[in-house]
Amino acid sequence: MDFKRHIASRVQAGEMTEQEIYDLIAIPPTTEMGDFALPCFRLAKAFRKAPALIAQEIADAYPADELVTEVSALNGYVNFRIDRAFWAKETLGRILSEREKYGSSEEGKGKTVCIDYSSVNIAKPFHIGHLSTTVLGSSLYKLHKFLGYTPVGINHLGDYGTQFGKLISAYKRWGSKELLEKGGLRALNALYVRFHEEAEKDESLNDEARAFFKKIEDKDEEAVALFEMFKELTLKEVGKIYDLLDVHFDSWAGESFYNDKMAPVVEELREKHLLVESEGAQIVDLEKYGMPPCIILRSDGASLYATRDIAAAIYRKKTYDFYKCLYVVAYQQNLHFKQVFKVLELMGKEWAKDLVHVAYGMVSLEDGAMSTRKGKVVYLEDVINKCVQKSLDIITEKNPALENKEAIAKTVGVGAVIFGALYNNKIKDITFSYDKVLNFEGETSCYVQYTCARANSVLEKGGKGKAFRVGTVCPQEFEVIKQLADFPNVLHDALEKYEPCFVARYAVDLAQKFNKFYFDCSILNAEEEEVRAFRLALTEATLITLKNALGLLGIGVPEKM
Ligand code: ARG
Repeated sequence: MDFKRHIASRVQAGEMTEQEIYDLIAIPPTTEMGDFALPCFRLAKAFRKAPALIAQEIADAYPADELVTEVSALNGYVNFRIDRAFWAKETLGRILSEREKYGSSEEGKGKTVCIDYSSVNIAKPFHIGHLSTTVLGSSLYKLHKFLGYTPVGINHLGDYGTQFGKLISAYKRWGSKELLEKGGLRALNALYVRFHEEAEKDESLNDEARAFFKKIEDKDEEAVALFEMFKELTLKEVGKIYDLLDVHFDSWAGESFYNDKMAPVVEELREKHLLVESEGAQIVDLEKYGMPPCIILRSDGASLYATRDIAAAIYRKKTYDFYKCLYVVAYQQNLHFKQVFKVLELMGKEWAKDLVHVAYGMVSLEDGAMSTRKGKVVYLEDVINKCVQKSLDIITEKNPALENKEAIAKTVGVGAVIFGALYNNKIKDITFSYDKVLNFEGETSCYVQYTCARANSVLEKGGKGKAFRVGTVCPQEFEVIKQLADFPNVLHDALEKYEPCFVARYAVDLAQKFNKFYFDCSILNAEEEEVRAFRLALTEATLITLKNALGLLGIGVPEKM
């Protein structure tokens, strides 16, 4: 039951609509103040009265209500207190019947949302810099699905560009099938690095590379076969990481997919008099909007990254008729997306307003080793493996007799990497620290997972799914109940702001409140049977909700730890 809705429908406040009231109602920071509060400061202007007076009038006018046990005005707020037993019964009843669906909704029904994320580059290392886009995008995908939208996950592969000519040249000179079979993506990258070194000494290599690139464009059999081999190798290795992270895509249409879809776009730009020639190149002038020009065709007629994105947006609208199209890409590309969105707007695409650049900050490792700077690449695979290994060490030390340690360590280690990337507001730069993400007492996924294992063990001893009744609700229990009941709102907000960190923080908060309850109140040894059954139900509801929350981040929950 949505108490906020219930209150909003009964509040009488002049001309204010129920929805306006609803949007204003908030949960006070501490329970002492009440369970819900309506701040009256924004009403002051319309009512021409002091907020304190308005609050008093609203409180006085609130009709008798058996769910709301207390209504009071304080410092410009109207505070509402809900009948705790009723709230507890409603919340637990709902969670225990909806279970893995708890928190889901139909709010996105009939709306398709394209989500462009991870978007790896063929033959380039999959490094720590790709972590955020991959896990943020994947979590947004899961959230959208959970809230009833139809998400389309798109891996806009970087599979086009002159670098592939260089790679072919390098491969033919120094590479072999065996080398790549053994060394994988790293060997491929080494070839690329070597090409650049050698080309410094011998300029002619660049001509050779250009020739090979042209061959790919002309669909020369050998060149295409080599390119396909590089692509396959990349996708195989990246695929292993996607499996580990529980990341999936519906479309792998990358940059090259738009090769034959750009000419009509260029034509349309020309027809709409948006193209201007500048130093031989074809550009869209964006000076009026305070931006440098968006280059559409280079002087040699070649298309650019932006041209492909414009064609891709048009293609996606036509193919999926999206409600929104999200681009989960680092903030370094802010200007790129602003330009692309503006060009589409100037083309008269009214849906350009539905394109959203979901920008995020950089990830660096605590030892200062940045991903590509200093030429030092930190492979995501290495970070994950190290986290899994460290988890195994910790688990072995804490609980040597535990069965299935390896599988559990994998869930814990992978979870730590994901959670580490998702715990902060996405725009913040983060420093990844192994000790921090694997701190079992910190604000971490392993802390949440450990709490789940604790709940599991209580339920194993006490039994699940028993009938329960609600008598009095103590403060510790009530804090858990309130937190549980807030889950659907948190998911709604997380989606609206594109912030999976809301879900991550929610999980930590819930785990902390549950642990306080666990240590302060006896569950299995509760004196009265009624209290014991209620506490077990509360434990089970917490476990279900924590699992749902972590699941939306792509993190699993081991039964035992
Ligand atoms: N492959 C690009 C990169 O690594 C990201 C592509 C993002 N998606 C897009 N539609 N531009 O920088």
